[in-house]
Amino acid sequence: MVDIFNKLSAIGQEHLLRFYDELDEFQKRKLTEQIDSIDLSVLDAGECELTRGHFEPMGAMTTEQINARRQELTETGLEAIRQGRVGAVLLAGGQGSRLGSDKPKGMFNIGVNRQLFIFECLMNELRRVTATAGTPLPLFIMTSSYNDRETREFFEQQGYFGYDKEYVHFFVQEQLPTVDTNGRLMLSAKDTVACAPNGNGGWYTSLRRSEVFRQARNSAGIEWLNVFAVDNVLQKIADPCFIGAVIDSKSACGAKVVSKISPDEKVGVLCLEDGRPSVAEYYELTPEMQTERMQDGTLSYKYGVILNYLFNINELRRTAGVSLPLHRAFKKVSFINESGELIRPEEPNAYKFETLVLDLIKLQSSCLAFEVEREKEFAPVKNKTGIDSVESARELLIKNGIEL
Ligand code: UTP
Repeated sequence: MVDIFNKLSAIGQEHLLRFYDELDEFQKRKLTEQIDSIDLSVLDAGECELTRGHFEPMGAMTTEQINARRQELTETGLEAIRQGRVGAVLLAGGQGSRLGSDKPKGMFNIGVNRQLFIFECLMNELRRVTATAGTPLPLFIMTSSYNDRETREFFEQQGYFGYDKEYVHFFVQEQLPTVDTNGRLMLSAKDTVACAPNGNGGWYTSLRRSEVFRQARNSAGIEWLNVFAVDNVLQKIADPCFIGAVIDSKSACGAKVVSKISPDEKVGVLCLEDGRPSVAEYYELTPEMQTERMQDGTLSYKYGVILNYLFNINELRRTAGVSLPLHRAFKKVSFINESGELIRPEEPNAYKFETLVLDLIKLQSSCLAFEVEREKEFAPVKNKTGIDSVESARELLIKNGIEL
């Protein structure tokens, strides 16, 4: 106890022991063990701007170019799936704080007159592709300690949405502590430091550590992983044409992109950074870069990423030791106050520390930007209303002929 108190007071975080004397022996051990295991280096991270290189626009394989070769590329992708060379990774560890539901986001019912869960939209699409290929492919689902049990139970309860359960594997991502606006660590209970999932960039590290991946990889010989977000209800998973195009282009990875709808749209943009493919966050583009246009009048930095990537496992392994930058995200984090009452904030109140999958692109030796039609493939559910919301996603689902 003295040791831990000294350790914490040296960094101005001794308030974590505020309720220590009220705890029983088990709780005391739990708290001190958690404090011991926490990566306190995050306290020094995130304050400073990330250093970026020189950005330049990057082209993409356009929808016209793709359509001209669709059949041939699709066949290449389907063949790779049939050969067991493709796996899919569903990133479902986020807390969906903007949507404001306590449940895993995938359990959200996007239906209106019938029940249609977000997970169901995704699994329907996966079933469609694997039915065409004539074989299932492994699906690895990343959860976090906050939603792991509920997610697994939901899949079980829903009969894996008709997918072969032998091919569905769950793994849990790691977490990092959160800090309030004064840089102080927080308690989520008297015996627990408030933590949050460490962002979607940690997926490969967590997946590699998991036994399920080792087994699946050895038995199936997976070479490519299609990584995608849970919250795009028009997400095309293991899209054979995309897979075929990346394989055909001999790129180390691929990123699905859409043309931005406006210069200031808040999406990460695929561009070149010091001559290498990389993703610039929307706030990293200067106003000049945002509005710069090419001769044909279209935006120079026009390709926004939609969190659907194809990575080659050998390339990922090569860069596995490189640590990704930590981003601070201002979010709603529940905590207990000085009187020990649990506060569930209505507005963002604290910083989470996250690594992002988009930062992996820069580490790959090459990347094919693959343009898709946003109306057909991009319906993110981030907010309750307005932009990228339940409402806008419903409209897009209906436009795509999906009954709600
Ligand atoms: P978001 O960046 O939208 O984060 O995630 P979020 O936590 O789901 O939602 P907000 O910001 O709190 O409202 C994009 C994708 O990355 C996954 C999410 O589940 C989603 O598929 N993600 C995010 C993780 O898997 N782990 C994380 O730690 C964060």
